[in-house]
Amino acid sequence: MATILRSRDTLNDQHDKSGATGVQAKMSQVTLPNGNSLTEIRGLWDMSVYLGIDVGTSGTKTLAIREDGHILASSTVEYPLYSPNPGWSEQNPEDWWQATQQGVAEVLNRGRIKPKDVKGIGLSGQMHGSVFLDKSHQVIRPALLWNDQRTAAECEEIEQRAGGRKALIKLVANPALTGFTAPKILWLRNHEKRNYDRTVQVLLPKDFVRHRMTGQFATEVSDASGTLLLDVKKRCWSKKLLGLLDLDLSLLPKVYESEEVSGTLSETGATALGLPVGVPVVGGGGDQAASAVGNGIVRKGVISATMGTSGVVFAHSDEVQIDPEGRVHTFCHAVRDKWHVMGVVLSAGGSLQWYRNQLAQTEVASAAAMGVDPYELITAQAAQAPPGSEGLFFLPYLTGERTPHADPYARAAWIGLSLRHGKAHLARAVMEGATYAMRDCLEIIQSMKIPVREIRLSGGGARSEFWRHLQADIYGKKVVTINAAEGPAFGVALLAAAGTGAYKNIVEACDATIDVVTTTASSSANQKIYNNLYPSYQRLYHSLRQEFRSIAELIER
Ligand code: XUL
Repeated sequence: MATILRSRDTLNDQHDKSGATGVQAKMSQVTLPNGNSLTEIRGLWDMSVYLGIDVGTSGTKTLAIREDGHILASSTVEYPLYSPNPGWSEQNPEDWWQATQQGVAEVLNRGRIKPKDVKGIGLSGQMHGSVFLDKSHQVIRPALLWNDQRTAAECEEIEQRAGGRKALIKLVANPALTGFTAPKILWLRNHEKRNYDRTVQVLLPKDFVRHRMTGQFATEVSDASGTLLLDVKKRCWSKKLLGLLDLDLSLLPKVYESEEVSGTLSETGATALGLPVGVPVVGGGGDQAASAVGNGIVRKGVISATMGTSGVVFAHSDEVQIDPEGRVHTFCHAVRDKWHVMGVVLSAGGSLQWYRNQLAQTEVASAAAMGVDPYELITAQAAQAPPGSEGLFFLPYLTGERTPHADPYARAAWIGLSLRHGKAHLARAVMEGATYAMRDCLEIIQSMKIPVREIRLSGGGARSEFWRHLQADIYGKKVVTINAAEGPAFGVALLAAAGTGAYKNIVEACDATIDVVTTTASSSANQKIYNNLYPSYQRLYHSLRQEFRSIAELIER
């Protein structure tokens, strides 16, 4: 049943704050009772290894790190995504478990890691997905994913049962969005009643893998926040909302803090993974909170801007801070008793990916001949157009938008084309449009009085120097990159180290392993240009909003 497509791997010797390479031994000075000192060499025999496993949408990434953050090995095992109807997005949970088994075997092998050295495991994954299990703990139907759009009617139903949008935000800190888990459960009840009646447990993607590993039904606060069923303020399930939705609490797993040990490898789990029985598995985190931990976003004032396919602006918060309009998500952070606020742009790097696939065939072919990444040629071309692309704007709503518009009908557009514009302008406008969309998130976060001292970039948008400058200019802030580029898997491997006693807590673990490596200041001339253009970018969506709806209706007819 499970279809594992292919696996990528690395034996990575780069990431190490201490500058050490992959030598798996530690030397330290030990003072003897007589005052003499000797050098103690601790080698392979007593190494502590932590695994981070990220159950992503395109594949599961497994990472093995030492306690100082040094990466020993990694593996990514890919699997398919199914869209049986327009707007539907599903995966087979057994694929995730198979990919996890393959990934763990690969990192043990590639890193020459002894199974007994694995001291802890952290789990991360795509958020909001729903795995429905029957009483024998078998998967009832494919999981509905975070980007599935079938639940618009159920979102309305939730708002109405909760007593309106405002009342709902008061209960669970967020409005109902089609991607979230609660509307998916209601969809099952409304459309597949027989499947709903057989369901005894609903799990998030990484928590399904946890169940296969430990036999426990458990989750943690950051991922649970994205179900829309968590009382985000109190960090426990909202019995009030469950009651209003007529859902049984027993459907949901036990909630832990991200650092807490949620269970240990069972005999079946250990055999499947080739690891000893009893290895602790910590709560871990939803991919965004885990990635933020991996970027060191564990204190007020430091925020991250990650441009992957989607774009995420993520801010740590010491208190629960809620946007009354519900434009950004307020979720529990993977840091104990802290929260985060985040804005999600659905097609950020995805817009440039679309441009590459549809309009840059020439650049893709030249890049293949030159042996370089096509994005290098595309960004070099974009750099030839001036800042502001001579009045050309791109709205990046290729897959609708979440922040700030929460509009599944919004669509992408170039606006302002003239005879002067060529491919360089088209490419630059796409990059500028995606970055303006990230600024939309940043503006809301700042309007909530969350301080922004430093912006840490990650994802594809951080790898290109041109895009780093563009981000600094459009955000109007200094942007930095850090030594860790491994995303959520690294964050949860650190949580495993912290949760099993290698560090006092996750903040200490981040401080010990993460450092700034590049700093890019904004250019005041470019910042001025973008500040003048940004209000026009913002108004364009509002001018077109009604047309997007009319077009959607015309197409549906
Ligand atoms: C977060 C979100 C995505 C998914 C998939 O709210 O929807 O980040 O977790 O990566």
